[in-house]
Amino acid sequence: MILFTDEFRLFFNDSSLQEIADKCLKISLDAFNVNNGNIPKWTIALDELKAIPKGEIGLNEPYIRIDQNGADPIELERAFKRLLPWRKGPFRFNNLKLESEWQGDFKWKRLQKHISPLKNRRVLDVGAGNGYFTLRMAMEGAKKALGIEPFLLFNYQYAAIKSLVNKDINAMLLPIRLEEMPKLSIFDTVFSMGVLYHQRSHMEHLLQLKDMMVPGAELILETLVVEGPNGYSLIPDGRYAQMRNVHCLPSVETLKSWLVDAKFKNIKVIDISKTSPEEQRRTEWIGDNAASLEDFLDPSDSSLTKEGHPAPTRVIIICNN
Ligand SMILES: C[S@@+](CC[C@H](N)C(=O)[O-])C[C@H]1O[C@@H](n2cnc3c(N)ncnc32)[C@H](O)[C@@H]1O
Repeated sequence: MILFTDEFRLFFNDSSLQEIADKCLKISLDAFNVNNGNIPKWTIALDELKAIPKGEIGLNEPYIRIDQNGADPIELERAFKRLLPWRKGPFRFNNLKLESEWQGDFKWKRLQKHISPLKNRRVLDVGAGNGYFTLRMAMEGAKKALGIEPFLLFNYQYAAIKSLVNKDINAMLLPIRLEEMPKLSIFDTVFSMGVLYHQRSHMEHLLQLKDMMVPGAELILETLVVEGPNGYSLIPDGRYAQMRNVHCLPSVETLKSWLVDAKFKNIKVIDISKTSPEEQRRTEWIGDNAASLEDFLDPSDSSLTKEGHPAPTRVIIICNN
């Protein structure tokens, strides 16, 4: 069991979050109690890390850095490598650089100057992966930064990082799906980054995000898009860039019209970027022979995926409830 009830109670000890605490705790305990054959290996990693002295967390761009006195880099590396693959990061522990597949700071830099300052806001990070961005949100001074992420390995990765931190950092990651969240409008900022295209119903996802937001709250929505007029979407038949569960890639205009339909206001496109092999790269931290962006593109034309679709391009939109 990696969810510490004390830490949970401390995080949810907040006038608004208290109202959803019991339900979130139950869903999380049920999720952690599943029968997953990897849990013994992941638990060894956590036990090894818990034996290492805790240290200060800070930003040492592009890394989230934790500095501990007396930690052996070989022990750290061995423990963190029990939790492969590391998709999100990068992190640095003393001089050990955990170079994740994604350079998360690229995305953060694209959006940081456009969002309302997170200081003292209650923030929800939907589909948070291992919590790299949730931690960045807490580091920006969020009153509470709650990440929700159903994939258990990523919750273990988060617990591994957190187990090395010497103080409370107003961040928490829980194994909850957005659709399972108790519906209550309590968050001042909601992030949905890299999640919409995984949903069977884009409208349900947008409305579920809205349900969690206080009036006037800010949504930061990042998703894959394609070129095309209003009304156009690509619905891949089979895989997209080797990913199996990509349901729909709208044009930017189509996406904006979905947000209008969901009654979001002040819809602003703040960035459109083609994903580069610098941002998504093959590293030793995703495992031996593991593939990354360059392996998903047509070797003779990098503007196309292997399946012949336009190569990954992502938009970031900011709007208000
Ligand atoms: C592509 S990753 C993006 C991670 C991170 N937000 C980022 O921007 O790098 C999408 C994540 O969303 C999670 N996810 C998918 N559907 C979800 C849902 N309905 N509720 C919460 N998380 C979901 C997946 O497990 C996956 O880890």
